[in-house]
Amino acid sequence: MQTTYPVPARVSEGSRNIANNMAAYREVYSLAQSDPDRFWLAQTRERIAWRTKPTVGLEGGYATVAEQPFRWFSDGVLNVTESCLDRHLESHPDKTAILWEGDEPGDTRTLSYHELHEQVCRAANALRALGAQKGDRIIIYMGMVPEAAVAMLACARIGAIHSVVFGGFSADSLRDRINDCQSKIIITQDEGMRGGKTIALKSVTDDALEGTRSIEKVLVYRRTGCDLAWDESRDVWWHDAVDSADPAHEAEPMAAEDPLFILYTSGSTGTPKGVVHTCGGYITYTAFTHATVFDLRPDDVYACVADVGWITGHSYIVYGPLANGATSLMFESVPTYPDAGRYWDMIERHQVTIFYTAPTAIRALAARGDDFVSRYDRSSLRVLGTVGEPINPDAWRWYYDVVGEGRCTIVDTWWQTETGGICITPIAPTTETKPGSATLPLPGIVPIIVNEEGQPLFGPAQGRLCLAHPWPGQARTVWGDHPRYVSTYFETYKPFYFTGDGCRRDRDGYYWITGRVDDVLNVAGHRMGTAEFEAALVSIDAVAEAGVVGFPHAIKGQGVYAYVVMQAGHEPSEAMEQQLQDAVRKAIGAHAKIDRVQVVPGLPKTRSGKVMRRILRKVAEGQPEALGDISTLADPSVVEAIIAGAKT
Ligand code: PRX
Repeated sequence: MQTTYPVPARVSEGSRNIANNMAAYREVYSLAQSDPDRFWLAQTRERIAWRTKPTVGLEGGYATVAEQPFRWFSDGVLNVTESCLDRHLESHPDKTAILWEGDEPGDTRTLSYHELHEQVCRAANALRALGAQKGDRIIIYMGMVPEAAVAMLACARIGAIHSVVFGGFSADSLRDRINDCQSKIIITQDEGMRGGKTIALKSVTDDALEGTRSIEKVLVYRRTGCDLAWDESRDVWWHDAVDSADPAHEAEPMAAEDPLFILYTSGSTGTPKGVVHTCGGYITYTAFTHATVFDLRPDDVYACVADVGWITGHSYIVYGPLANGATSLMFESVPTYPDAGRYWDMIERHQVTIFYTAPTAIRALAARGDDFVSRYDRSSLRVLGTVGEPINPDAWRWYYDVVGEGRCTIVDTWWQTETGGICITPIAPTTETKPGSATLPLPGIVPIIVNEEGQPLFGPAQGRLCLAHPWPGQARTVWGDHPRYVSTYFETYKPFYFTGDGCRRDRDGYYWITGRVDDVLNVAGHRMGTAEFEAALVSIDAVAEAGVVGFPHAIKGQGVYAYVVMQAGHEPSEAMEQQLQDAVRKAIGAHAKIDRVQVVPGLPKTRSGKVMRRILRKVAEGQPEALGDISTLADPSVVEAIIAGAKT
């Protein structure tokens, strides 16, 4: 059996990548490691349109992060939209910047760089007219329409800090985010469209606004034209405010370390955190990684089918591709609408050269058979990316053999909301790949595997993944709570950044991410906290206690397993199970579902009252024989009942 996949000959010709052979990669990697300031200053000066070019690289670091965030390029001045838009007007104003594929196949729109620039300027002027100022927070709660990207860039243009909330989140989740960042304006649309169904974005927004005080204006883009409740004093149509606005706008000069956006993400405990990314470092890192990893070429048609509500959409639909002057496809629908051939149909029609999706989608489509793929011409494809979860070797091989016809490079890209961009990945077409491995770190990224006690392990090893040195795209803080940022990422394995992931390094130095080792779930590439599920479940009167863990799921990667302790006098029933589903849907959103519910007499607790989650995990994973030491349990009989009633 072949264990490494060689570099395809055809695609290695003509590559202008910084690392177009492994010797070049190793040289660039060691340069970046020995002199990171020099490396990153050279990258940013070459790739980014600064008003005032920076002369300073990194200031501060992990050792001093508790006192203040580390900084990159702090004497530089820029507006990221000038890198994404204005500078392309000279060289390629008519090149397609955004190629939009709507929910119905063939329902397409294109926006050239010239048109996108004009739209962003109009929207920037409209936001200013609505009272938005530099530093204000603006929530974007939209579906996958080009106007979502326009809204993000318009915020960046005026120096407002956007916070995109994925359109699947519930009113409760949206309200929490509005309140946490004290957003002044929210940009939404009447309805979203996905897989032939509508999503009531404006009416969820209306619900969310009950119980918030900061929002002054709601800017509404009309997508479907449905009837809406309307508050004349607060609601404004996008078409009225934006279409008539001036198409010229002088971008706000920003310091490199001014915040660009906040993106909320789930952690082990508590409510989601507002991860903050800053202007200069983030745009440098997304531009660098997008060009490098995918071996971007001028006439590429690049398609990342993520949603702008997640970090992948921010970095690799909007900021990275536009900074690189690429044609970036935005996809409104789902991979199975109207059938499982949708991606490949789209690839044929738009002659897509680089395609980037999640392992969940690959597994779901592979399960539908090869015919849906082979009926479309995929000869335009050159690079195939995956992101969001570990990819199992079978799914990897199907992607490589069936979708890519053995011709394309697979880039399994490991990164996180907090890392801003890709960190461990093959570089197309240079790096030899192994199915299931994210392979090697990018220049500037220094992975360290530690054991549970935090001791670094060398050579082939298995443990927890940390990163040892800051890079420009790394998140700087948690909005309004820097101590939480420090305690979440920098206190577990000092002096490193702890990713929360388990990882193995093999004899060739290749990294294999094994999944989260904390209480974060990754269900179909969606990151959710077990604590958020548990809080939703115990909000129901009939539920006394709840423990939620993940278990391996063939398509979704992980499924959600809920152990529920009922209040005395309440019996399990189908209606009660529905109540549980409704509660998590209300608290989190439509993408949060429980796959298995087990009613238990109690949760396994130590004598000091701490839930032994390891036991819950092992039983959910179908490994009750591997519980380990349970001698510290207050009541061992609970474990017997849990094992006896386990759902498989
Ligand atoms: O567990 C890792 C997994 O996704 C987590 C980050 O989730 P999020 O912040 O939502 O960002 C997802 C998109 C970048 C990581 O801690 N993950 C991401 N990419 C991979 C992965 N696990 C294995 N292999 C990957 N390529």
